Amino acid sequence: MSHVEIVPSILSADVGRLADQVREAEAAGADRIQVDVMDGHFVPNLTFGPLVVEAVRRVTKLPIEAHLMVERPELFIKAFARAGATLIEVQVEATTSLYRTVQSIKELGCKAGVAINPATSLEDLREILPYIDLVNVMTVEPGFGGQKFITHSPEKISRLRAMVPDMEIEVDGGIDARTAPLAVSAGATVLVAGSSVFAFKQGVAAGIKAIRQALAPFPRQGEGLD
Ligand code: DX5
Repeated sequence: MSHVEIVPSILSADVGRLADQVREAEAAGADRIQVDVMDGHFVPNLTFGPLVVEAVRRVTKLPIEAHLMVERPELFIKAFARAGATLIEVQVEATTSLYRTVQSIKELGCKAGVAINPATSLEDLREILPYIDLVNVMTVEPGFGGQKFITHSPEKISRLRAMVPDMEIEVDGGIDARTAPLAVSAGATVLVAGSSVFAFKQGVAAGIKAIRQALAPFPRQGEGLD
């Protein structure tokens, strides 16, 4: 039985209370924290840099994912590794040197992930799969939190699961108590959740709990059925 991890992304957090929000998420059972890095070029939004990863690193022991939604991510991986990222994700569409970029991420001691946008074919991942630790299937067009889960995403997730029976498959965008089971049933094992956690009406802990309860049949890391 695959283990499902919940990864709150800080894009929808109250940045003025970021330390508290991260601590709330950790106390509520989050497995990792994701920092959504955007450069205003690869996506039409501008967000966080390495300083924010450093700040998050200071307040939590959880693994930190730096999701680089930026052009030429190879220019930035050293800064994010030094800032304390555990895993660095780059977009398959954003670099012409994906193999070298992935190697560099691993040489810096981080896990390497590749994120793929909704309209990008899984075939674009095939040659890099042997070298990475995680694929992030974007279930929205990246750039903003609070978007709607793209309906046909589970079919793409299933096709990827057939290509990589044992790899971590992450999904990112529109993940909540309704869509999480759809993604997990299709083969996802890591769920990025921004607005359904940090913009949840009843608060961060209730947001994480709602997703966890919706996944009740799927145990969390370390809560195996055996
Ligand atoms: C790209 C961002 C968002 C964010 C999740 O747009 O990466 O996907 O992490 O945002 P929600 O969970 O609010 O869709």
